[in-house]
Amino acid sequence: MTEYAFARAKREALEAVRRALGEPVDLPVVLPPAEVNADLAIPCFPLAAQRRKSPPEIAGDLARAIQPGPTFAAAEATGGYLNLTLARPAFASSVMSELIRLGDRYGSNAEGAGRTVVIDFSAPNVAKPMSVGHLRSTIIGAALYKLHGFSGYRLVGDNHLGDWGTQFGALLHAYSMWLDGDAYEQDPIAELLRLYVKFEEEAGKDPSLRDRAREWSLRLERGDPDARRLWEEFVRHSMAEFQRTYDLLEVSFDHTLGESFYEDKTREVIEQAVARGIAVEDEGALIIRLDNAGITTPVLLRRRDGATLYHTRDLATAIYRIRTFRPARILYVVGSDQRLHFRQLFAALRELGFGDVEYVHVDFGLVRLPEGRMSTRRGRVVFLQDVLEEAIERARALVDEKNPELPDSERESVARIVGVGAIKYADLSQSRIKNIVFDWNRMLSLEGDSAPYLQYTYVRARGIIRKAGDAPPAEPFDARAAASAQEWALIKHLSRFPEAVHDATHTYFPHVVANYLFQLAQLFHTFYHEIPVLQAEDEDLRRSRQHLVGGAATVMRTGLDLLGIRVPERM
Ligand code: ARG
Repeated sequence: MTEYAFARAKREALEAVRRALGEPVDLPVVLPPAEVNADLAIPCFPLAAQRRKSPPEIAGDLARAIQPGPTFAAAEATGGYLNLTLARPAFASSVMSELIRLGDRYGSNAEGAGRTVVIDFSAPNVAKPMSVGHLRSTIIGAALYKLHGFSGYRLVGDNHLGDWGTQFGALLHAYSMWLDGDAYEQDPIAELLRLYVKFEEEAGKDPSLRDRAREWSLRLERGDPDARRLWEEFVRHSMAEFQRTYDLLEVSFDHTLGESFYEDKTREVIEQAVARGIAVEDEGALIIRLDNAGITTPVLLRRRDGATLYHTRDLATAIYRIRTFRPARILYVVGSDQRLHFRQLFAALRELGFGDVEYVHVDFGLVRLPEGRMSTRRGRVVFLQDVLEEAIERARALVDEKNPELPDSERESVARIVGVGAIKYADLSQSRIKNIVFDWNRMLSLEGDSAPYLQYTYVRARGIIRKAGDAPPAEPFDARAAASAQEWALIKHLSRFPEAVHDATHTYFPHVVANYLFQLAQLFHTFYHEIPVLQAEDEDLRRSRQHLVGGAATVMRTGLDLLGIRVPERM
């Protein structure tokens, strides 16, 4: 298992403290504030009570006890903190040689080795356009997929398509009554959506339509060939439409097992729940009470008319996954409006005896979209495809302006990389639990916290390397290239990439990596504006600074790739 330079320094800092105190204390190792001239800090407050000394006294004792050595050049106390200064040349050269040695694997780890994670993401609903919420799930889920892969997990990405349920009865009935064949031919999803809306309107006036819908629903469940054929057609049209979005996003799945796949597996779940005595009759329906888990709303397992529900299929899904893939963990990347659903689901699974899997609802907030052109093109709902195409169009304008010399073919692919990257980054750079506002200007800005800015940083770095003739980086790293504040800050930041990856993976918050990369971009720009690289005084220094530039480029590319964002070589 790789222990990177930064983690090693932190561990050694704690070991030094333990030796000085003569006991195995556990303390956090943090970064000192900018005005403190040190690289690591250990707060001594937690030791005060037991040692009957003030934190500043303890910090002072520790500072005196810790002698300069190969890892730390100095130890000092400020207030209740012990501040440690890294031995720069040694630290810089370990970080830089890790970067050379590992290249695109720098930051990866083997924590997940031998463990499987199932990631349930995207999961749009058939016969409806993919919503912006599903876009978020797709983007966040794909990032978590890559992050877990980088940590050595075996991955199962599953698109839990919403392709079953009583709503199909309504749709089938509406189809049989009000279909506009030409419209359906032109844009099946838009027509199905119209039918769906129409059904709701009409059923509002004439409730007996709900009975017709139920009849269709039963026909479908019993395998009536007409109902079945239409349903299959809806699924096929929807998949084709979703696939266009996935292609643009460059997202794929290991499995697309929709809810319908589990329909014949719900019986066993129901029987098992009954046999275990956890399912009870309630006014003709079958429910699981979850009061023991502190949840007052029971799970509805089977309706009075015999129909199974979203919950029933989700139980069957989880059990199928557990048996088929033997996961250590199942992630459900679904909006926070389904928080109760998942609390119930996980509690019911534990009741059913599937408690030794770690279930996580990776929830996220809403997206507010701008009004106007985009939202009206195809009616009231926002079609994702339009959002993505608009982003690419806008990115093309940006590229035309910034780099008119690019050949047409490259311009097209750069526009795609930048446009799609901008959408993904706008989502992934903010804590997923927050509601986010869609802001084109901010998203495509070359200066702010945006994908184009980070991609541009990469392009700049690569430009320098190309100018230098792609010469191999210096090994060993010349310690003089860690001497300035700008270089040192950049090296230290590069050393922290593995930690950012680790934290993002463990908390399921990809924005930790996004924010890390934004800081990297800022540190890189400061370095690059103030420190000569190609014009450095001598060959050794030049090659070492080039190495720094190359390291920043590699980490930027790797980090963006973990977010599902590609980088162009020019833009
Ligand atoms: N299709 C559902 C919806 O759009 C999301 C499914 C999420 N996954 C799950 N296993 N429930 O609301």
